[in-house]
Amino acid sequence: MGRTMTVQGGRSLYGTVEVPAAKNSVLPLLAASLLCGGPVRLEQVPRLSDVEDCLGILRAVGCGAAWEGEDVVVGGPPSCCRMPLAETARMRASVLFAAPLLARLGRVETALPGGCRIGARPVDWHLAALEQMGAQITQAGDRLVLTAPWGLRGTEICLPGPSVGATETVLLAGCTARGETILHGAAREPEICDLAQFLNRCGGKVQGAGTDEIHIQGVGALHGATYRPMPDRICASTLACAVAAARGWITIAGCSPSLYGPVLDVLEQAGCTVSRTAGSATVGRMGSLQGAGRLVTGGYPALATDAAPLVAAALLFGEGTTVLEDRVFEARFGCAEGFAAMGAQVKVEGRTLRIRGGRPLRGAAVTACDLRGGAALVVAALGAQGKTRIAGCEYIARGYASLGEMLTGLGARIE
Ligand code: UD1
Repeated sequence: MGRTMTVQGGRSLYGTVEVPAAKNSVLPLLAASLLCGGPVRLEQVPRLSDVEDCLGILRAVGCGAAWEGEDVVVGGPPSCCRMPLAETARMRASVLFAAPLLARLGRVETALPGGCRIGARPVDWHLAALEQMGAQITQAGDRLVLTAPWGLRGTEICLPGPSVGATETVLLAGCTARGETILHGAAREPEICDLAQFLNRCGGKVQGAGTDEIHIQGVGALHGATYRPMPDRICASTLACAVAAARGWITIAGCSPSLYGPVLDVLEQAGCTVSRTAGSATVGRMGSLQGAGRLVTGGYPALATDAAPLVAAALLFGEGTTVLEDRVFEARFGCAEGFAAMGAQVKVEGRTLRIRGGRPLRGAAVTACDLRGGAALVVAALGAQGKTRIAGCEYIARGYASLGEMLTGLGARIE
């Protein structure tokens, strides 16, 4: 049964909200815990369905993985090289478990991963990097077997493009490989720095994360650690866009505004008031909004692709034109159909969403078709008149533990 959410629009948001830990950091950290000889405790992890799927993978390969209050504790070496098909297929981040299992067991049996339908999402760069590090790969249909009976070895790798996941795969593979791995063309997302910091806390030797050249000195083994993952900059972006759509005045705490600077800059240019401290941003919208002209997404520190549908939802309320091009994924704007059902003037042309904003929106029955697009429908619904019924909210649960509760806490009416 799909989950639904009903949003009563037209209520302004007020108050302070704390940003939870980042899904895109927690998932690689859970994969990394497979490399550790001792227990790993990740603090204050949000209960996302993607996190539950990662715990399912860890248990299936023989690790202990359990909630202790808000923390997740992972312990015990993996003993089984077969990844569970259901969890692996549901989530693209399942590919991150391949390198650590290969490093620990010399073999991994897995499948091509699934994930949100936002465009083709191949894993060829992950596989090519592992091959360069000594893995042998056989593929039959969507099944993959990777072997490295003599272990992985460090080498020099050049990524064809700045992939977040492939960069993380190389970090995970390189940490306990023989010798040094040098990665050129690495992605520079903050979640990669978080992973590197965790690996170093566990005894790894990773240098240069956050730049496009990363050096990883292989070490014999990693030990366990207690670690608090970084805050979720996309969740923070969602809240900022929510108040821009709904009106009001909110403080988004526990997340440095520099992590989602481009989103705050766009909202400010569109007419929101934004004030920043080291660890929080206060975003207000009292009057009207303007369209933002032409915007493009890109790798960090550019406007994040994951934030594009959310920014679009806010700018539906901006008078004038916004043209938003996603340069990372080709089908980012599946939410446009829902926007149109609410009365927005939007058009998708290839990777670009064109918005003629400023028309009042009205509640409608809409369907989430991916994680961020689903959250974008919630943002749009907050600013629309009347009730919006959003089906397909299981997509939203992949990345937001309590979006409804967070917004309700700020005064929204959501069931
Ligand atoms: C991660 C994030 C996701 C975000 C994306 C881009 C996680 C769990 N997910 O996804 O939320 O939207 O970064 O910031 O962290 N590519 C290939 N071959 C590969 C790998 C990537 O062609 O082997 C291409 C992809 O199709 C895409 C681009 O590279 O066009 C970037 O993808 P990538 O950075 O790898 O995204 P993910 O790591 O899957």
